[in-house]
Amino acid sequence: MEYNLREEGFYGNMEPEQITEMYGSPVYVYNEETLRLRCRELKKMVKYPHFVIDYSIKANFNPALLQIVKEEGLEVDVMSPGEISLSKMAGYEADEIFYICNNVSEQEMRYAIEAGVTTSVDSLSQLEQYGRLNPGGKVAVRLNPGHGAGHHQKVITAGKKTKFGIDVEMLHEVKAILARYSLKLVGVNQHIGSLFLEKEQYLKSVDSLLECAKEFSDLEFVDFGGGFGIAYHKENQIQRLDLADLGKSLDEIMYRFVKEYGKEITFRAEPGRYVTAESSVLLGTVNTVKTNHGKKYIGTDIGFNVLMRPVLYDSYHEIEVYEKNRKVSGKRETATVVGNICESGDILAKDRELPHIEEKDVIGVLDAGAYGHVMSSNYNGRLRPAEVLVRTDGKIRLIRKRDTLEDLVKNYVLLP
Ligand code: LLP
Repeated sequence: MEYNLREEGFYGNMEPEQITEMYGSPVYVYNEETLRLRCRELKKMVKYPHFVIDYSIKANFNPALLQIVKEEGLEVDVMSPGEISLSKMAGYEADEIFYICNNVSEQEMRYAIEAGVTTSVDSLSQLEQYGRLNPGGKVAVRLNPGHGAGHHQKVITAGKKTKFGIDVEMLHEVKAILARYSLKLVGVNQHIGSLFLEKEQYLKSVDSLLECAKEFSDLEFVDFGGGFGIAYHKENQIQRLDLADLGKSLDEIMYRFVKEYGKEITFRAEPGRYVTAESSVLLGTVNTVKTNHGKKYIGTDIGFNVLMRPVLYDSYHEIEVYEKNRKVSGKRETATVVGNICESGDILAKDRELPHIEEKDVIGVLDAGAYGHVMSSNYNGRLRPAEVLVRTDGKIRLIRKRDTLEDLVKNYVLLP
């Protein structure tokens, strides 16, 4: 039941086809109960009392969802002034926002400083820039202790082949800059990459980060990063990351560390995907079914402007088919599911075994709640979809309007 809320009234009081009719197709549908469940699992993953979960809002920053995440007691990690604003819109205070920046301008950094948000920098020159802008201030640094992991080379964010973090060989330079600008180092953080299912690499990296942390005597926090994986494949026994098991290992490490360090500091983790991915199904409509040179194509309105992950990382998302509001089961044919974008790479699922699909059927793309709508675009002049939330009482609420044609043209300026 815990992993399968979709079967238990994911769409609340409405049916998938009613939702696409009412809010347009495609549409991102979120389930509040699933979202709350994931938040609660994370909140109780360790026993150590000073452990903060920062939801990494880059996975999905819809402010209505952030309101729920806030109610569940998670803080947030953000990447830009835009994400700071969206967090504030959802009711987050400055001291609940952690700004982890990468290659930012003075203007952007100043925005965070003036907003009173704790900032983490990830290069020596950005630390210098911070010192010039806020001498005597508090700052955190993102380190790269050398262990990376992730579902694709493009999302591995530590180790030797990435732009992120300060090489741990450079800690003496970090100390010199801190001293030069009288900065207080309040925290160190890292992020090894996105979507790991085994804890080993994460723990190795946590150990290395804590070794670095010992070099600084007065830290307030150490942030281990995010990347917690979920099971996009439902049938081949690949399970989500075992959170309780990871928590147990982290507890041992954290209690050991505070004993050696002589002070009870705060530890943080910053999962994004784990919080929101499974809370959403992206609904779309089949406009065409055709056979091209012996291959069956299901032509939908879910182009890669709506969900980029399959095209960008060859990511797998399960697809459900609804016919007259009922989920159709039974694998009956192999088909390639494509979108409506003018590129042949616009493929949602290649040679997938699916139930028989007909034109006008509604399909659901599972686990679309993380890196889905936030990565959507207006490519081909298409309108970004609406987002709706199924509340715990089964009622549905619009939480982001679908773009209109007016939205599409409003920021352009014609020549005189
Ligand atoms: N912290 C930092 C500093 C990050 O850069 C990220 C993700 C996270 C936390 C959260 O990672 P998560 O728990 O969600 O794995 N668009 C890609 C994922 C990019 C992740 C970027 N950074 C995808 O769709 O798979």
